[in-house]
Amino acid sequence: MWIGKLSCFVQLIFILSLFQVPAFAIKKSYIVYLGSHAHGPEVSEADLHRVTDSHSEFLGSFLGSTQKAKEAIIYSYKRHINGFAAILEDEEAAEIAKHPKVVSVFLNQGRQLHTTHSWDFMLLEKDGVIHPTSLWKRARFGEDTIIGNLDTGVWAESESFSDEGIGPIPAKWKGICQNDTTGFPCNRKLIGARYFNKGYASYAGAPLRSSFNSARDHEGHGSHTLSTAAGNFVAGANVFGLGNGTAKGGSPKARVAAYKVCWPPINGSECFDADIMAAFDAAIHDGVDVLSVSLGGDPSNYLDDGLSIGAFHAVKNGIVVVCSAGNSGPAAGTVSNVAPWMITVGASTLDREFQAIVQLQNGLRLKGTSLSKPLPEDRFYPLITGAQAKAANASAHDAMLCIGGTLC
Ligand SMILES: *[C@@H]1O[C@H](CO)[C@@H](O)[C@H](O)[C@H]1NC(C)=O
Ligand SMILES: *[C@@H]1O[C@H](CO)[C@@H](O)[C@H](O)[C@H]1NC(C)=O
Ligand SMILES: *[C@@H]1O[C@H](CO)[C@@H](O)[C@H](O)[C@H]1NC(C)=O
Ligand SMILES: *[C@@H]1O[C@H](CO)[C@@H](O)[C@H](O)[C@H]1NC(C)=O
Repeated sequence: MWIGKLSCFVQLIFILSLFQVPAFAIKKSYIVYLGSHAHGPEVSEADLHRVTDSHSEFLGSFLGSTQKAKEAIIYSYKRHINGFAAILEDEEAAEIAKHPKVVSVFLNQGRQLHTTHSWDFMLLEKDGVIHPTSLWKRARFGEDTIIGNLDTGVWAESESFSDEGIGPIPAKWKGICQNDTTGFPCNRKLIGARYFNKGYASYAGAPLRSSFNSARDHEGHGSHTLSTAAGNFVAGANVFGLGNGTAKGGSPKARVAAYKVCWPPINGSECFDADIMAAFDAAIHDGVDVLSVSLGGDPSNYLDDGLSIGAFHAVKNGIVVVCSAGNSGPAAGTVSNVAPWMITVGASTLDREFQAIVQLQNGLRLKGTSLSKPLPEDRFYPLITGAQAKAANASAHDAMLCIGGTLC
């Protein structure tokens, strides 16, 4: 793959040197943020066309023609957020930023996925029994609340998204279920799914395979965060028999909608601002009540940050935006997603551990933690290091990171 790209690049240089083309400016995807729209929350088709035209005319005044502008624009944010994402040269971006109509111009940057955990401390139930005064009862388990998430999509067939015991789709819902080649099934629980990949594709610099035109979660993070927020009750959930119990989200009867904005990482970036802003604009239109966003990056100026801008427009429209604080430090107290209109949640610790005992031949018993299946207890095994605990085709490096094919 990499070699393939390198050889194309070498060929390109060779062709360029043949024709003595002058040095060309490198283009990158930028977001031009224009604030709010003149139109109100009820948007007609005519309004949408007007906005698209105004974006291409505005950009055209810098690029020399409306046609060039239309080719450069990858997204027009038309409904709630006003702005567009476009492939531009640095100089063009700098020129556009000077225009009085423009709030900010910033690079379409990549962000990283986060993880949130856990409802277990919140005393909504005890040993699987829900107390009459539990907040869950008073909140009717989140019934008819619509929770959207911006993440890696969703595994629609997961039992957490079964619509058993869930009534008809709320009348206010205006979202869609974007189909794909595998047949993407929504239901009365998972009421919407959309994907946004143009910002990612512009960074990747190559056309995406057709499997990218799908809200399906091939990674797992989005299904995890969405089911943590609002998964239905699933009895007998366990890992090799460990942690066996009824899995459920914080609002088990809420409806959910997935907005897929995160894709396989390129240079450590997986969720791009241009896509994030398009997802916010769609989610506000669709009618979500809450947005859960477990991704982020280094804090930056709010006006140069698609997540802060998207969340701002969502909150302005009465949506609660809940973000993760991040897992990567570097300091114990480091948080991302710091805009004051976000509710940012930090995880601290767990209230359970998965104990495993190792007994040595001399009788010494050592307590540790493991999520693996116990070994048969009929004999002793040699002591090995973590790096050695792997299948023949896995690397020692994989073993140290507990990747598939290794033992942890
Ligand atoms: C979704 O796509 C699949 C596969 O192309 C197709 O079989 C199915 O009929 C489509 N469903 C809808 C609702 O369009
Ligand atoms: C990823 O990083 C490498 C090495 O820094 C760089 O050569 C490459 O252009 C980057 N890829 C993208 C898509 O930016
Ligand atoms: C999990 O618990 C349920 C209910 O107590 C039980 O029926 C089931 O066999 C358990 N599953 C495992 C793998 O332990
Ligand atoms: C290693 O072998 C297993 C079993 O044959 C296979 O499932 C797995 O994909 C292989 N892993 C790699 C990294 O080749």
